[in-house]
Amino acid sequence: MPPLSTTLFLPMNKRFYITTAIDYVNGQPHLGHAYEKIVADVIARSRRSLGQETFFLTGLDEHGQKIQQAAQAEGKSPQAYCDELAVDWKAFAKKLELTNDDFVRTTEPRHKEVVQAILTKLHAAGQFYRKTYKGFYSTKEETFLTDKDRRPDGTFDPAYGEVIELEENNYWFKLREQQQWLIDYLEKNPSFVQPDYRRNEVLGFLKNNELEDLCITRPAARLNWGIPLPFDKDFVAYVWFDALVNYISIPAAHGDPTVLSALKNSQPSTLNPQLSLWPADIHVVGKDIVKFHAVFWPIMLKAMGLPLPKQILVHGWWQKDGAKISKSTGNIVDPVAVIDEWGLDAFRFYVLRELDIGPDGNWTDAGFKSRYQAELANGLGNLINRSLSMLKRYRNGVVPAKHDELAAAAAKAADETRALLKQNQLQSALQSIWGLVTRANQYVDQTKPFSLAKDPAQARRLDEVLYNLTETCRVLAVLLWSFLPGTAVKIYVQLGLTGTPDKLDAATWGGLSAGHKIGEPAPLFPRKEER
Ligand code: MSP
Repeated sequence: MPPLSTTLFLPMNKRFYITTAIDYVNGQPHLGHAYEKIVADVIARSRRSLGQETFFLTGLDEHGQKIQQAAQAEGKSPQAYCDELAVDWKAFAKKLELTNDDFVRTTEPRHKEVVQAILTKLHAAGQFYRKTYKGFYSTKEETFLTDKDRRPDGTFDPAYGEVIELEENNYWFKLREQQQWLIDYLEKNPSFVQPDYRRNEVLGFLKNNELEDLCITRPAARLNWGIPLPFDKDFVAYVWFDALVNYISIPAAHGDPTVLSALKNSQPSTLNPQLSLWPADIHVVGKDIVKFHAVFWPIMLKAMGLPLPKQILVHGWWQKDGAKISKSTGNIVDPVAVIDEWGLDAFRFYVLRELDIGPDGNWTDAGFKSRYQAELANGLGNLINRSLSMLKRYRNGVVPAKHDELAAAAAKAADETRALLKQNQLQSALQSIWGLVTRANQYVDQTKPFSLAKDPAQARRLDEVLYNLTETCRVLAVLLWSFLPGTAVKIYVQLGLTGTPDKLDAATWGGLSAGHKIGEPAPLFPRKEER
C-alpha cells in the first residue's frame, strides 16, 4: 500500500484517452482491424509527441453466440478458445508496434465486475423492464430484426445468416424517451461524431425513425457465454452492452475517479487510484458500428450519470481491388505477410497516406508498390541516404556550421504537421511532411553538392548545403515519429543522435550543432526492382 498522502493528494491530471473498437476474437486479424489500430496509434503517439499525457486502449470482444459457436465447432470450452486466440491478437498488436497502454479482454474479472456493477445500478434506477417479444432473430448478428431490415422482396439479407422466428422474455433498456435529448446533443455538439457526414447520418437516423428500446439480455438457457445478470441468474448480458462498457471498465481498473464515483455503490476490487481518464477523448470506430457508439452508448452513459466521450471518430472500410474483403472468396490482404515482405513502416505509410479517416478505401498491390517506390524509396529514403552519404564523403560525417536556407520550409512543415495532428488529419499531415521531402530533394538537384565538392573554392557553399540537408533529415525524423516510428529512429541513429525523436518540440530548426559527428548511412527502403 502506498502511504495515504500519495493516494489522496496525487495530482489527477486527466490524460488524453483514446480507444479502438474491440475486435471479435474469433477469426484472424485482417487489414480492416490493422488500419483502425494504426490510426489510433498514430493519434496516441502524436498526442504524446505534442506533450500530452495519453492513454491508448485496445483489446478483444470475447462473449456472445459467435464465439460460443466457434469454440463448440473446435470442441473447446469458450474460455480456452478465447485464451488461445488472444495470444495471436496480442502478438498482432506487437507486430503493428501499437503503443497501447492496456489491452482489455471482456472475459477478464476486472471488466466483468464493472459490467455487473452497471447492470445493478441501472436496474435499481428502474432503467430496465421485462417484456416478451416475438420476432425474427439473426443468430449471426445476435439481434432481433424488424421489417425495416427486409429487402424489397421481403427476405433478409444473407449477411444476417440464419434468421429464425423467436419468442422470448428479456430485460429491455429504455432508449425511447432519450431520442430528443440525443438529437439536441448532436446538434449542439458538432464534433461529437466526425467526420460531419457521419454525424449527419446519425442525425438523419434519429430524426426519421422512432428509437426502439434495446433488448439487453439473452436467456442463459439459449446462450450462456456472456456476463451473468447479477440480479437474475437466468440471463446473460447482450454482447454489445458488455462490449461498450470496456471503455469505462478499464479506467475503473486504473482508479479513474469519475467512473468510480458513478459506480460507488458497488466498487470493483482492482483499485489503483492513479489515472484520470474518463471521459474518453476519442473512440475510433468503423462506419458499421456508429449506431452502437453514437446512439446506444451515450444513452447508457447518461443513465449511469457519466459524461459522454468527446468524439466518435468514424473511419471507412477497406476493400481490395474494388471488392469486399472476404475470406470465403479469398479477396484478402494479410497484413502480417505484407509487413514481413515490405516492413511495418511501409504498411503503416500506405494505409495512412492512401486513405483519409472517413471515406472507404481500396487496397491494390500495384498502388502499394507504387507508393513504396515513389514516396518511400525514391522520396524519403533517397533524400536521407544521399544527404548523409555526402556529408560522410565530403566532410567525414562532421556537421558544418548552422545555415538557414531550408529553415522556412522545415518550419512550415513542422507548423502544419503540428496543427493537422491536433485535428487528427493524418493524411494531410503526411502530405505536408512530403512537401518538405520534395523540397529538399529539389534542393539537392538545384545546389548540386556533388559538383560543388569538385571545386575547392565552393567549400563554404558546400558546407551550407550539407548543413541544410542534414538538419532537414533530423526535422523529418521528428515529424515522422508518430507515423513511421521505426524509420524515425533509424534516421536518428544514422544521424548519430541518441534518444528517440518523440517530441514535436524538437522539430525546431537548428538542433544539429557544428562539429557533431553522424553515424553510418544505410538505405531505409531498399528498392525492389526485381519484383
Ligand atoms: N466487437 C465489435 C466492436 C465492439 S466495440 C465496443 C466489432 N468487432 S469486429 O471485429 O467486427 O470489428 C472491429 C473493427 O474493425 C470495427 O470498427 C470495424 O468497423 C473494423 N473493420 C472490420 N472490417 C473492416 C474493413 N474491411 N475495413 C476497415 N475497418 C473494418 O465490431
